[in-house]
Amino acid sequence: MKMPFVDLKIQYETYKKEIDKEVISVMESTQFIFGPQVVKLENSLAKFINTKHAISCSSGTDALILSLLVLDIKLGDEIITTPFTFIATAEAISFLGATPVFVDICDTDYNINCSKIEEKITSKTKAILPVSLYGQTSNMEKINKIADKYKLFVIEDACQSFGAEFKNKKSCNLSTIGCTSFFPSKPLGCYGDGGALFCHDDTIAKKIRAILNHGQIKRYEHKYIGINGRMDALQAAILNVKLNHFEDEIKKRVKIGVRYSELLKNCEEVKTPSIFKDRTSVYAQYSILCKNRDALNKKLNSAGVPTAIHYPIPLHLQEAFEYLGYKKGDFPVSERVAKSILSLPMSPFLTQEQQNFIVETIEK
Ligand SMILES: Cc1ncc(COP(=O)(O)O)c(C=O)c1O
Repeated sequence: MKMPFVDLKIQYETYKKEIDKEVISVMESTQFIFGPQVVKLENSLAKFINTKHAISCSSGTDALILSLLVLDIKLGDEIITTPFTFIATAEAISFLGATPVFVDICDTDYNINCSKIEEKITSKTKAILPVSLYGQTSNMEKINKIADKYKLFVIEDACQSFGAEFKNKKSCNLSTIGCTSFFPSKPLGCYGDGGALFCHDDTIAKKIRAILNHGQIKRYEHKYIGINGRMDALQAAILNVKLNHFEDEIKKRVKIGVRYSELLKNCEEVKTPSIFKDRTSVYAQYSILCKNRDALNKKLNSAGVPTAIHYPIPLHLQEAFEYLGYKKGDFPVSERVAKSILSLPMSPFLTQEQQNFIVETIEK
């Protein structure tokens, strides 16, 4: 049985009429940068997340870079994060000349191990950057407590967790700044690159808005060194439509995630995701730990089931981060999980029939 890993085609066909109308209206207006669609999107995003400010930008990576720029992170500063994430998390830190300081993950939710953060704090530490991997946040209460004690900023890499909750509060609204991605395959995705930052602080918000537009505070008056980090109006128009359906899509994602776990609960070869009682997951990925990952992966692929490995090499073992001086064995949980994690097809449009086939193939 053939199926896509993420069903973006059915999603587009479902909302086609609404999306096409909005896209054509941008084309006809010829206002491709900023404009009413961007303003509308930011107002809706702030309302959805319940933050004072939502600022759209060009990608999740740029959201992370902007969050560090606005907090004046620079050469020599240390930022604590996890090595078990997409490279953009630590790349943004290195890009500014700061140093990513890795802390291993927990083997439950694959997020940063909060009990190991304090031992990595030095006089150079400026921020903690937890990643809400696979769609579930870390214990943000514990992280914020540590940050308060040492007067650090907290930046949530919520690129996979838009729409998830921790203690009834939305991901992106749990730290100094929340950063998300609207990459097409994310829980809320646009049709290109896009991202957003969330905060309550007026000064931070104003500065982010300037920095993402070349540090400009008035036309051709540049207060800061910035970037071109704007979201374009076409992506905003698409997101305005998709955000209207997002609550419904989250419900469907959760239903599919819970059903996977129920169907796989007696399969001793795999471990299903642990979702904590005080959290919800948006299942950006439905990732299982497998005793014999590579063999299972091969079988699934040859049966027509696409899979993905998020992520096969932890960041401390990547050539790009060799200069940090870490070695094999430094983060044993990350290394172990990288060898046995496997993501299964997940989208709100995955049918029960497709899901049954995936589970039956795994069981076989
Ligand atoms: C955890 C994490 N951080 C950052 C990013 C970067 O987001 P973008 O691709 O929108 O730049 C991603 C996207 O894959 C991600 O999964």
